[in-house]
Amino acid sequence: MTDSAKDDGFVVFDHVQKSYDGEILVVKDLNLSIGRGEFLTMLGPSGSGKTTCLMMLAGFETATHGDIRLGGKPINNIPPHKRGIGMVFQNYALFPHMTIAENLSFPLEVRKIGKSDREAKVKRALDMVEMGDFGGRRPAQLSGGQQQRVALARALVFEPELVLMDEPLGALDKQLREKMQFEITHLAHSLGITVVYVTHDQTEALTMSDRVAVFDDGRIQQIAPPDQLYEAPENSFVAQFIGENNTMEGTIEEIKNGVALVKLDSGGMIDAKPINVSKAGERTRVSIRPERVEYNRDRLSPDAHTLKAEVLEFIYMGDIFRTRLRVGGNDEFIVKTRNAPDQRRLTPGETIEIGWMPDDCRALDA
Ligand SMILES: Nc1ncnc2c1ncn2[C@@H]1O[C@H](COP(=O)(O)OP(=O)(O)OP(=O)(O)O)[C@@H](O)[C@H]1O
Ligand SMILES: [Mg+2]
Repeated sequence: MTDSAKDDGFVVFDHVQKSYDGEILVVKDLNLSIGRGEFLTMLGPSGSGKTTCLMMLAGFETATHGDIRLGGKPINNIPPHKRGIGMVFQNYALFPHMTIAENLSFPLEVRKIGKSDREAKVKRALDMVEMGDFGGRRPAQLSGGQQQRVALARALVFEPELVLMDEPLGALDKQLREKMQFEITHLAHSLGITVVYVTHDQTEALTMSDRVAVFDDGRIQQIAPPDQLYEAPENSFVAQFIGENNTMEGTIEEIKNGVALVKLDSGGMIDAKPINVSKAGERTRVSIRPERVEYNRDRLSPDAHTLKAEVLEFIYMGDIFRTRLRVGGNDEFIVKTRNAPDQRRLTPGETIEIGWMPDDCRALDA
């Protein structure tokens, strides 16, 4: 994030609600403040309200309740062409009757940019998405991925202050996708563009964003920088939605000195960090990342609680080993270990003991 991103509130959603039919709220009391120059990603299941939020910000939908402000001003008071918003829609709508170059030139003409400047900007934007040779074609003569790249170039060509992108890389293959992820973040940061980005791809969200807002059912479940979201999910939904995760259900036995002792339904006792649980007797779902599980006793504290586990499958993946265990009736308990020279390779059928640092295991809502 650039320094200027600290002056918070370039884009503000203030108690925003949205209903299309006057009954069901698809966005429920959304409060969100995005700093200038920030790269913010909305991540969440299908139908959770992400596109609706972008549409309201762009001015194509109105909020049923609440305010949306851009640069301190209510968005309704700013005419669309003065909003300085570039957009890439989920269904990248290019103008079908114009060539690719004309599609890109259009937003520049609207902004009264001179011809030679326009040509230079169009060329640079097309080159950026590796579409420099396609300026003379029409959208119908391009593949889906190529159209998507042109849509991206068109959103960026006039160097807008704010860019809204709804799954802009969905139609690209992995390699091009990763290249474009890098290009977009690099460009956004170097030009100081504020980006509100929507994706289904959590790796994309984690690698590109300053902050990620996890949506579910019209609400933000958690908004945090990528590392915090991954390492410190605040509820079970976020823990499950972001990254791979092992969970076990149980009841809080006691909470003492910031450590929760959990009696698992499967019988064992383990230590966890209490997150959104508060007292003995409460139901909980504990959550532990596959790379934080230890089966090397030396790496656990002497008084750590451990669980017996049976090795079901050992998969060599090159950089890591992925082992599937049966732990207390759960056959899908995953452990990931780095392929280090001294790392023990487990054998299916063997019984081991697993444990973890209490800080790495989070007692969340059941
Ligand atoms: N124009 C519309 N009229 C009525 N309902 C709509 C309209 N657009 C979206 N919805 C509904 O609003 C809810 C949120 O939709 P939205 O498009 O914002 O979800 P999304 O998070 O973008 O999902 P996806 O990841 O599938 O694109 C959905 O239940 C959807 O059916
Ligand atoms: Mg959508």
